Amino acid sequence: MTEPSAEQIARLIEAAQAAREKAYAPYSHFAVGAALLGADGKTYIGCNVENASYGLTVCAERAAIVGAVAAGCRNFLALAVVADTGAENIVTPCGACRQVLAEFSPDLTVVCANLAGQTAAYRLGGLLPHRFDLE
Ligand code: THU
Repeated sequence: MTEPSAEQIARLIEAAQAAREKAYAPYSHFAVGAALLGADGKTYIGCNVENASYGLTVCAERAAIVGAVAAGCRNFLALAVVADTGAENIVTPCGACRQVLAEFSPDLTVVCANLAGQTAAYRLGGLLPHRFDLE
């Protein structure tokens, strides 16, 4: 698998940060943005979309992957996730999103960032060992 360059990662974080501005989070007030770099070179963004029926909330990461698949992309090099967690913390994708991402790119590079400019990089396989899959 092609490794994303530092420049691609930087641009992906910017895209996730911009997507975060579009978050609809009137219940939690916790806005999250995500951006996926497709193997086709395109960037697919998502933000969290909450609902008065709380359980129907869609996370930013799943919003991004659903849009990407609908646009015809099923392979991804990297994911960036951005939230405002202060300088001490960084958000990582929830378990449900890890499983959905792993359906398409189990070895995905996952870069998490906060608005204070801190980043942390993971591999999806490390965040979700022993995923449930077709086999
Ligand atoms: N959320 C995300 O969009 N992505 C994550 O990785 C963690 C949680 C959203 C869901 C909900 O709208 C809000 O953050 C609080 O849980």
